[in-house]
Amino acid sequence: MSHPTHPTPPADLLRATLSGLLDGLPPKQAAGAVERLIANYRGATPTDAPILRDRADVVAYAAYRMPATFEAVRSALAAFADAVPEGWVPGSHVDVGGGTGAATWAVTDTWEGARPVTVLDWAEPALALGREIAAANPALREASWQRSRIGAALTIESTDLVTVSYVLNELDEAGRTALVDAAAAAAQAVVLVEAGTPAGYARIIEARDRLIAAGFHIAAPCPHSAGCPIVPGTDWCHFSARVSRSSLHRQVKGGSLPYEDEKFSYVAATRFPPAPAPARVVRRPQIRKGQVLLDLCETDEQLRRTTVTKRHGDLYKAARDADWGDAWPPFGTQERTE
Ligand SMILES: C[S@@+](CC[C@H](N)C(=O)[O-])C[C@H]1O[C@@H](n2cnc3c(N)ncnc32)[C@H](O)[C@@H]1O
Repeated sequence: MSHPTHPTPPADLLRATLSGLLDGLPPKQAAGAVERLIANYRGATPTDAPILRDRADVVAYAAYRMPATFEAVRSALAAFADAVPEGWVPGSHVDVGGGTGAATWAVTDTWEGARPVTVLDWAEPALALGREIAAANPALREASWQRSRIGAALTIESTDLVTVSYVLNELDEAGRTALVDAAAAAAQAVVLVEAGTPAGYARIIEARDRLIAAGFHIAAPCPHSAGCPIVPGTDWCHFSARVSRSSLHRQVKGGSLPYEDEKFSYVAATRFPPAPAPARVVRRPQIRKGQVLLDLCETDEQLRRTTVTKRHGDLYKAARDADWGDAWPPFGTQERTE
């Protein structure tokens, strides 16, 4: 009896390909390159020249950071995909500051199949390694890896989707403005992801305002395109994506947990009208006896805590399954809280 063959999911292919990168590299050397990279990233950014200078730097980046940036982008894209009109699939994709291509892998994981893909970055060694890794992913074999500097001269070819992941924080204000304006001019949809820190959130809100001013609608995570209800400096909107840790991670960071939670902030915006979630769970839900406390960002531009109890029937079951970052109520559930 023959079994249908299922292609390996991009997430698994990526993990296998990245672990293969370290084969043959003495563990001490790999850990040393990661430590150098972390020290560089602690230094002042933005920089005038690429931080990823040679193959050792980019192998360290790819093996150590790419699984986490991939999961963060994948999580943002999942929320975005729930908010686009039925049947909308990006027909083309440009990843700006794409480095070794984490976001291109996340896009192929969210929407199956191949599409024209362009990765822009100023670091040639990152592009070279990205191309090498992408050879393992049939949907990325035709991708074009192009050297390009983000600045006033940046232009992006017209495309359905632009992604920018973990880049805004490496740019000065003029660079961030040029990037968001070029993305808005080129794309039907723009997805920006940053570290889930107060600074990352501030970069996301700045870009969100600029995209709205350019005529975009917010598809996720916000339930609306009005102002963010968070009072600046009091809190920051961020989410969490689970990442399996590699042996390199355990070696550099110690500890024995098989996973790590990557915190990220994001915004997804579209030229076309999206259908954003009615509300979004913005903290880890608290499960108590017979009730679940949900912190929600709601359509009326408010943050509100809702208590869902057994009395709410199916909605209570849904609340027990709800996760930080989910839409609320989940699609197909009748809202019966009052
Ligand atoms: C932290 S890495 C993120 C890489 C990738 N997007 C990801 O999510 O894994 C930042 C990337 O931005 C690129 N970058 C920073 N400043 C840039 C600039 N002015 N022009 C082009 N690329 C830039 C770096 O070379 C690097 O690849």
